[in-house]
Formats: sequence, structure tokens, C-alpha cells
Amino acid sequence: MAKILSELHLLGTESDLSSERGVSCTGDLPEPSDPKMVERAIAAKAKLGDRALILGHHYQRDEVIEFADITGDSFKLARAAADRGDSEYIVFCGVHFMAESADILTSPKQQVILPDLAAGCSMADMAAANQVKDAWKIFEKLGIAQRTIPITYMNSSAAIKAFTGENGGSVCTSSNAERAMRWALEKGEKVFFLPDQHLGRNTAVLRLGFSLTDCVVWNPWKANGGLTDDEIRSAKIILWRGHCSVHGRFTIENVNEMRSRVPGVQILVHPECQYEVVSAADVVGSTESIIKTIENAPQGSSWAIGTELNLVKRLAQDNPEKQITFLDKTVCYCSTMNRIDLPHLVWAMESLVRGKVINQIQVPEKIAKAARVALERMLALP
Ligand code: 13P
Ligand code: SF4
Repeated sequence: MAKILSELHLLGTESDLSSERGVSCTGDLPEPSDPKMVERAIAAKAKLGDRALILGHHYQRDEVIEFADITGDSFKLARAAADRGDSEYIVFCGVHFMAESADILTSPKQQVILPDLAAGCSMADMAAANQVKDAWKIFEKLGIAQRTIPITYMNSSAAIKAFTGENGGSVCTSSNAERAMRWALEKGEKVFFLPDQHLGRNTAVLRLGFSLTDCVVWNPWKANGGLTDDEIRSAKIILWRGHCSVHGRFTIENVNEMRSRVPGVQILVHPECQYEVVSAADVVGSTESIIKTIENAPQGSSWAIGTELNLVKRLAQDNPEKQITFLDKTVCYCSTMNRIDLPHLVWAMESLVRGKVINQIQVPEKIAKAARVALERMLALP
């Protein structure tokens, strides 16, 4: 079932919406109220030992992070999966595109498991492979495709990574988008950046010095991307019209309000936030670099953080001598990251103990081969 769903996802049809990824629990999910849940998790993990590697993205709930062998941002976790050839199973506590990347980077003998198949990413769902290929055909017609290098953010389907690999491009994450874009501009004249317009714009303008007018936004729901032929021809950076529904909520008003309320506060945000927010921030970085910034911050310093709430709460708990607040007043969990809870993790691990692999993420080899090229280009970036 997981294989079929994964293939549907890769076809880039309507079915790649997270909500349509199907029923992932077959009724044997532990009761969330089971008072022995933690004991069960400890026992299952001990029985699996080195056979299973549990990876946890920084946005995961505390109850799940507690059982992760390695925690990290998407780049660190992709590397961890690629480096751990000895683990039979990779239990990926994160979202679908991360598990797909892990499957692509691991050996055929290893099996990657996503404890809840509904853990997708709304941003990744904003770009379907057929839409991306249609846009590319227009670039070919306009004679710019051979001078354009696609860069796709890790938060995209394997099919889009495959398109990127086939067309001379690379994957990037929030921790290496600048390097990937510089690399692309050494190879070509334009960058086609998918699917996060904010990360693309923030990188091009705030890190590489392009102007806002060098960037255009390709709207996949409009003819010709909603652009004139001349706009497409003269753009340096063509940004896909996608965004993160969590980070897109932070506003410049949040930043201004925080600065007036907390004197000396430093604003620390993820680069998926809007351009105005990132421009006004003091520090910008991936989830891993947000953690390092806070760990290295002086005692007594004040920080307002614009990223997912599970991570911000954990940072506040782990750093009581620093004043840490959430940049927005309203709650902002990533609902799909939150799908992975302890009952799902226990279900995945206990099933493995019984010799049953549930929710395996398997990218068909034809797509995996081309996507691997784009992922390996990223891993080889200087
Ligand atoms: P990181 O690569 O910074 O962990 O970000 C992944 C992500 O999905 C942020 O929304
Ligand atoms: Fe996707 Fe945004 Fe959630 Fe990250 S925080 S997984 S980009 S929806």
C-alpha cells in the first residue's frame, strides 16, 4: 500500500496531497491513553537495537524526540541516512519528503519507515511534477531552458528532485541554499527555484545581492505562470509560487511589536519566513543553526524565534537562563510534523519487532536514480 501511495505521489497527480496519502493505521495503533506507552517504546527500541536507526527532525514532539538516535535539520538527517549503511531500518520521524530522500540515499537492503503516512508537507504539495514539467516546456519554447539551472528545496517530492537531477540541477536545504544558488549561477545564467518562493527570494536578494526585480514568481495555476514572455526571459531568478503555511504566518508587525515590547530582543527566524520578516531579523538560519545560535547565546539574552513551536518550546525549556519567546502570539505547530506521535512510533517499532514493516516509503528506482543525482550534487557542494 505504501509503495502504491508513494508511486501515486511521484506521478505528480492530485493524489500527491498529504490528505490523500491514505489510511496509514490499520487499527492496531496503541491506545494513546495507554499508561505503559513510554515503557513499550523503551522495550521496543531496546529489542531492535542497532537494527533500527530512529531519525528525528527538530520539529517533532518531545515525546518522539526522546527516542531519536539522531536529531537534526533536513540536511543533517539526509546525511545521517546516507552514512548509516549498517541499519536495517530507518524510522523517520519527520515528514514524507524527508523519508523519500532517506530511501533514495540508503542502500536497497535498508527499509525506510514513516510512522504516519499522513505526515506530509503543505509546501511540498504546492508543486506537482507535471506542473513543473509544463513550466520547463515553456522555458524550452522561449529558448532559456539550457541557460536555466533548477534548484529544488529538499521540501519537494522525489519526482521533482528527479526532474532537477535530469536537468542539471541540485537539491538544497535551508542550510546550503546560498551555496547551491551560487553553484547554479556558475553553471548557468538563471535559477529556477522550487517550491519555496521565500527561501529562494531571501537567498537571492539577501545573500547574493540580487534585486527584488531580478526575481519573478511563477504561478502554476495561471497560463505562462502569470508572466509575460519578456518577464520570463529577463528574470535572473524564477521562483515557484509555494510557501510554508507555518512560517508564512510570521509578519513584520510581529517583529515590530516584539522589538517595542522587549527591549534588546534579538529576532531569530527560519529562511522560509517572508522577505520582510527575514530582512528585519537579526539572525536567520536552518533549524540546526537556530539551536546552535541559542546554545551559544550569552546568559540573560532575549530572543524571539520565528519557527515551529515544538522547537521553540524545547529551546525555552532547555535554556532557562535565556529569555526565549515565540515570535507570533498565536500557536503555530506544523500539523503534519505533529502527526508523528508516540503511539505511531511505538506502532512502527513494535511491528518491526514482530517482523512486520509498516508504512515503508519506497521510491521507484527510475525516479530514485535521477533524484539521487540531484541529492548527491547537494551533498558534494563545497
Ligand atoms: P530545516 O532544514 O531547517 O530543518 O527545515 C525543514 C523544514 O521543513 C522547515 O520548515
Ligand atoms: Fe513543510 Fe512548513 Fe511543516 Fe516545514 S514547517 S514541514 S515546510 S509545512
